[in-house]
Amino acid sequence: MWGGRFAAQPADAMQAINASIDVDKRLWREDIEGSKAHAAMLAAQGIITAEDNAAIQAGLDQIAAEIVEGTFQFSVALEDIHLNIEARLTERIGEAGKRLHTARSRNDQVATDFKLWTMRASREAADGLRVLQTALLKQSQAHADWIMPGFTHLQTAQPITLGHHLLAYVTMLERDRVRIIGGALEAAWECPLGAAALAGTGYKIDREATAQALGFHAPASNSLDAVGSRDFALAALSNLAIAITHLSRLAEEIVLWTSPQFGFARLSDAWSTGSSIMPQKRNPDAAELIRAKAARIGADFAALNAIVQKLPLTYAKDLQEDKALTFSAFDDFALSVTAMIGMVETMRFNRQKMRAAAAMGYSTATDLADWLVRELGVPFREAHEITGKIVRIAEDSGVAELGLLPLSDFQAVDPRITEGARALLTVEKSVESRDSYGGTAPQRVREQVERWKEMFK
Ligand code: ARG
Repeated sequence: MWGGRFAAQPADAMQAINASIDVDKRLWREDIEGSKAHAAMLAAQGIITAEDNAAIQAGLDQIAAEIVEGTFQFSVALEDIHLNIEARLTERIGEAGKRLHTARSRNDQVATDFKLWTMRASREAADGLRVLQTALLKQSQAHADWIMPGFTHLQTAQPITLGHHLLAYVTMLERDRVRIIGGALEAAWECPLGAAALAGTGYKIDREATAQALGFHAPASNSLDAVGSRDFALAALSNLAIAITHLSRLAEEIVLWTSPQFGFARLSDAWSTGSSIMPQKRNPDAAELIRAKAARIGADFAALNAIVQKLPLTYAKDLQEDKALTFSAFDDFALSVTAMIGMVETMRFNRQKMRAAAAMGYSTATDLADWLVRELGVPFREAHEITGKIVRIAEDSGVAELGLLPLSDFQAVDPRITEGARALLTVEKSVESRDSYGGTAPQRVREQVERWKEMFK
């Protein structure tokens, strides 16, 4: 394609390091779409003839069919998807194929193709998250009043409801989804096609037309930026990295919850693995791998960021590595979301185990302090002190729950404490009382479930 200036062939390793076809063949749809828009525009502008354009359109459609059928011969010698398709086009339609590359360069071509790919992949990733949210929402609804321990520092803090806990992820994933879609909308703002190699072109092209045909709002207003920038991919990767961080936290909780020590949940057979030596094992491999995928996606972002940050304007071949990183991140993300959907949909929870764990660690101590404030007008700091002393008595006498301590022990610390106060110290009463907006009370959880359902319609 650029042989005119060279007398000798590239070294084998030169070809190996330079060729990207094995990776960027995935851009074939976008490349054909971009070429068709470009050729149509060239014809409309009188830069190529209508006959040439017709031949190019038909030829590109046939190439698309060949790729779908699997008969297209990808060639490493032709470096990348752009040259592969163009060479095949010329092979099929002759002279007209050689006119396609008028007023464009692979630099604006690849920026356009890759942007289109990233936008599409982002929309699909967002759709995947919505399916996962729906699965979480269903489980939230089914477990709106199932009680489990809420943790800070992974120490029992206060009783919460499982529905509330799962809705926390629905909420996180909604922000992730909005960020990912926002990235795609931002990318759609400017179309790089027509920036040519870097400086624009002297041909009287119509950049509005190609931008519109490809679904962009407008042509990119600076040709150097158009060919040299990859922040659309960086934004997509960072958005994926944040989203999978949330998946990874849920995965981590699944690993904990399914351990015999917690015993809160059990993964279905389809989403568990066994051990070749220990017959009793049910391992949460998919959850563990999601944690690992999260690390990889973060690294994909870091790698591309490092590639771009040291490049003088405009294009440099370093940028070719953008695609392997981005494809890998989107692939890992999609698989992780699918696996998480499978686990969440089929996971079963153990109500007794979760309730028992929720009652451990004197989890209703705050409820006693709150009673002292509410009923006796004790300042909160003082109530905290009184309650702390009662917890110490329970601990010293080996009583596991505050509500099981005899009233006399409460009254030894503060004689004003009544049987009514002691009766409030169950985990059920505790979650019911936390009914502020956004709180864990079953009633509030059910309201939030309804709100999300309405939103997802
Ligand atoms: N395969 C190349 C890439 O992905 C296409 C652009 C090549 N441009 C160039 N000036 N060599 O970056």
